[in-house]
Amino acid sequence: MIVTIDGVAASGKSSVASGVARALGVPFVSSGLLYRAATLLALEAGLSLEGAPALLAHLEANPLRLEPLAGGNRVWLGGRDLTDDLHSSRVDAGVSAVARLPPVREWVNAQLRLLPDPFVAEGRDMGTNVFPHADAKFYLTASPRVRAERRARERLEDVPAIEAALVERDRRDAGQSAPAPDARIIDTSALSLEGVIGAVLAGLPA
Ligand code: C5P
Repeated sequence: MIVTIDGVAASGKSSVASGVARALGVPFVSSGLLYRAATLLALEAGLSLEGAPALLAHLEANPLRLEPLAGGNRVWLGGRDLTDDLHSSRVDAGVSAVARLPPVREWVNAQLRLLPDPFVAEGRDMGTNVFPHADAKFYLTASPRVRAERRARERLEDVPAIEAALVERDRRDAGQSAPAPDARIIDTSALSLEGVIGAVLAGLPA
């Protein structure tokens, strides 16, 4: 069984996917971490975030591995665990440009399609492009202010600055983030994390 949970930035996808996966006793897969790791490698190597050939050659020479652990995904570069460096504002600001490059998307999607099911996959295009035959699909939204307030609990920036960055990232991600026609859309603005997890579990096929 494959369940997809897509949605806008900071809509709570990974917390929800983690909770749903735990309730089902399966792993969850956080696709955004691979885009973030590709961005971190490009930044560390001083590569242009728009130059697909050099970026891809660098990714092929430095293989990244996504480890879909039930408690939280990790990304490894050989023996180096990159995970804790993937949510900086620098990576946030660059990741949409990297994620727009078709060869990078193919590289990420090929890795995701190798994972054995069952799992819950979260991202932007899990239900549309990567797992169009998923058994159940969801798309999470929330107002920019609510998302910024949630993220402010994890970052040292103020809410208006975070909100502006989220709105800008939504704009840049619009081309690669859309609900599948058969996805259930859940507006999480007024829901607790447990409430969203419950809504997803209630929407699964029997
Ligand atoms: O989900 P998260 O916010 O960590 O994703 C980081 C970025 O990776 C997104 O802003 C988007 O640019 C890109 N992404 C994507 N497709 C996915 C997952 C993430 O383009 N399936």
